[in-house]
Amino acid sequence: MSQMEIIIQPTAEQATAIAAGIISKLVREKPKPVLGLATGSTPQKLYRMLVDMQLDWREVVTFNLDEYVGLAPTDENSYRKFMWDHLFDHVNIAGKNVHIPSGEAKNIPWSCSRYEQKIRAAGGVDLQVLGIGTEGHIGFNEATSSLASRTRIKTLTKETRKANARFFGSYDKVPHHVITMGIGTIMEARQCLLLAFGNKKAGAVAAMVEGPITSWVPASVLQMHPRVVVCVDEAAASRLKKADYYRWTYENKPDWQRF
Ligand code: F6R
Repeated sequence: MSQMEIIIQPTAEQATAIAAGIISKLVREKPKPVLGLATGSTPQKLYRMLVDMQLDWREVVTFNLDEYVGLAPTDENSYRKFMWDHLFDHVNIAGKNVHIPSGEAKNIPWSCSRYEQKIRAAGGVDLQVLGIGTEGHIGFNEATSSLASRTRIKTLTKETRKANARFFGSYDKVPHHVITMGIGTIMEARQCLLLAFGNKKAGAVAAMVEGPITSWVPASVLQMHPRVVVCVDEAAASRLKKADYYRWTYENKPDWQRF
């Protein structure tokens, strides 16, 4: 079965609950599950729900999508700190199973290819959690990123730096550079689970699902992925032309296809 499945829910809470159900099933059923994880505002509720579910994380291996260059792991705004604060500190994951690109690597190309090797050595990502930028980025693969890209350094666009200034207190403090898994890396995950909430994401969601596949909207490449679930609230779905069709499809899923 190859498809992008769009699940529209009245609220972000309800859409997140479906995503949490998909992840918890994997964690319960698959030995040594490998999760790809995202940061930002979107997955915060998801991590809270996963913590509340009290799953056993001892065998879980994780790889985060991205990190800011130049931020120490202890920095308030580092994605490493974000992940420990929002998830890892509240579950029984083994520290050695957590992987986050290093923002302080001396040799960035070497540490990026080492990151790719570690993903391969873990058997690849079973499920990659994704958010989406207002211009359609996934990870920090900004518009015009190569659709075949691997983990590497990227320069953030002005729009992304502005969007993330809320975490730093000011635009000037947002780093210019990040390390991000590439689009090719993300596409190798066996399943992708993308969440998007609110009006601000409506244009990017419509371009991803119903627009042409183009590096101008990196998330649109997910149309070529064999297994993607997109969980959105009504606001983020508001510019989808075929929203009624996606709703009908989800409500009438054959039992054997249900999560
Ligand atoms: C974060 C990441 C980004 C975000 C995106 C949306 O690890 O990879 O692609 O998912 O920028 O950010 P929020 O959720 O803050 O709107």
